[in-house]
Amino acid sequence: MKSFYITTPIYYANDVPHIGHAYTTVAADVAARWRRLRGDTVRFLTGTDEHGSKIAQAAAAKGQSPADYLEGVVAHYKALWTRLNISHDDFIRTTEERHKRVVQQVFERLLKQGDIYLGSYEGWYCVPDETFWAQGDLIDGRCPTCGRLVEKIKEESYFLRLSAYEKRLLDYYEQNPDFLQPKFRAPEIVQFVKGGLNDLSVSRVKVAWGIPVVSNPRHTVYVWIDALSNYITALGYDLEKPGPLFNQFWPADIHLVGKEIYRFHAVIWPVLLMALGLPLPKQVFAHGWWTVEGEKMSKSKGNVVDPHIVAADYGVDAFRYFVLREVPFGSDGDFSLSALAGRYNAELANALGNLLNRVLTLLEKNFDGSLDVPTDPVLVPARAGDWLADYDGVLSRLAFSEALEKVMGLVSRANKYADEQAPWKLVKTDLAKAHPVLVEMARALKLAALALHPFMPTVTQEMWSQLGESEPLAQAAPDLIKSGTIGFTPGQKIKKGSPLFPRKEVPGKAGSGPASKPA
Ligand code: MSP
Repeated sequence: MKSFYITTPIYYANDVPHIGHAYTTVAADVAARWRRLRGDTVRFLTGTDEHGSKIAQAAAAKGQSPADYLEGVVAHYKALWTRLNISHDDFIRTTEERHKRVVQQVFERLLKQGDIYLGSYEGWYCVPDETFWAQGDLIDGRCPTCGRLVEKIKEESYFLRLSAYEKRLLDYYEQNPDFLQPKFRAPEIVQFVKGGLNDLSVSRVKVAWGIPVVSNPRHTVYVWIDALSNYITALGYDLEKPGPLFNQFWPADIHLVGKEIYRFHAVIWPVLLMALGLPLPKQVFAHGWWTVEGEKMSKSKGNVVDPHIVAADYGVDAFRYFVLREVPFGSDGDFSLSALAGRYNAELANALGNLLNRVLTLLEKNFDGSLDVPTDPVLVPARAGDWLADYDGVLSRLAFSEALEKVMGLVSRANKYADEQAPWKLVKTDLAKAHPVLVEMARALKLAALALHPFMPTVTQEMWSQLGESEPLAQAAPDLIKSGTIGFTPGQKIKKGSPLFPRKEVPGKAGSGPASKPA
């Protein structure tokens, strides 16, 4: 059995999640669910990044201890993942003992072998914000977030010797062309490394809320060694004796990240792994960013999209569908309620939902719900193995919108076939001719349910049951995908239920709009 390990970034626990965090997590979930449907052994990791002054400050602002504050934020994350039907196998928090212990081991090992050394860090420090800035970050010599004056500081810091790894990194990129994905983002990384790497400051004496450096506890580990190591600490990596999960799932198949942290995953993380003598992940994939109604999302603008609200208005499955359908994965995109309502109505309510409803109604009324009749496989070949193999290839490239186009192409062919054959007329004139037409459409819907399952786990299971399948979709899938046989068993009858996607009014049109707007 193939094993497949996919991760999301660990999200900063200084605030509650929004649509950007949900996007990465839903995408990883779809990839993980598809692999499970194929019968692979999957490990899907997400979690929270819980150290640093930003978190200590957020807690202080609420009059809470960091630990109490974190409990609250982490509960929000976990509740959202439950709501969005995320099927992660593990949730790592960087404040957990399993993580801290290994980060400390890793730091000491790299120090001992000379990949980490003690030097001094010079930079700009915003005292009230407790934040370090590089010269280039400053705005008119002031802190870019609070606008106050910054102080130039020079202090002791440990450094990771990135500069020693330039050649090895470049060789790795060249020999592993699939590592940097999507391909159009790779040159940015290669150029960055070719431009020469500075050693990276990896400890602070001024940040108390962090993992102490064992051999020099005045220092705490600063950001990236702590954060990136989560991908192995969660598998039970240990310098003395890596656990069985590590042996089974490392190297990761895909680290999914937003484009702003691509560089850290494509440069620092490989260096850390090389220094530890560990294999590198097979792929780092950076997706684009969402704007909202054409604008950057920000708290001050008040346009931050809360996935809970969208899911309440449109359903969890439609939310998951929309974010991966709207924008080619990898590119930037814009979220708008009118685009959401438009796609929901055109693709989910009209094309998919109505098709199912029409087919089931006609089968129920005229054939006692029976699916038991041989069909002429015009929509779906008798063996749909090629279709599924192609679909598998598309999803393996994480080309989610392309995958959804492929399924919706099948659905629109089924709708066109319905228009041509007009089974609602045929049932009045030629029942024997009408039956196979309807069952052929049901076959297309069965294949669509299977293919859409990772995107819309609940609704597709409902479609599946309405089509009279008794074995749960997820259980039936591995054999079905292997055999490619999409059909119905003798005596199988549909079980019509309520319509899957009730139509929505498009926002902006008179007397309409979803119940509430994203906060
Ligand atoms: N803690 C670091 C990551 C460490 S990984 C070892 C971090 N956390 S974060 O909370 O800022 O989350 C960043 C991630 O959230 C992005 O990489 C991306 O996956 C997602 N997004 C946040 N805002 C986003 C958009 N506006 N659009 C799309 N995704 C974005 O960085």
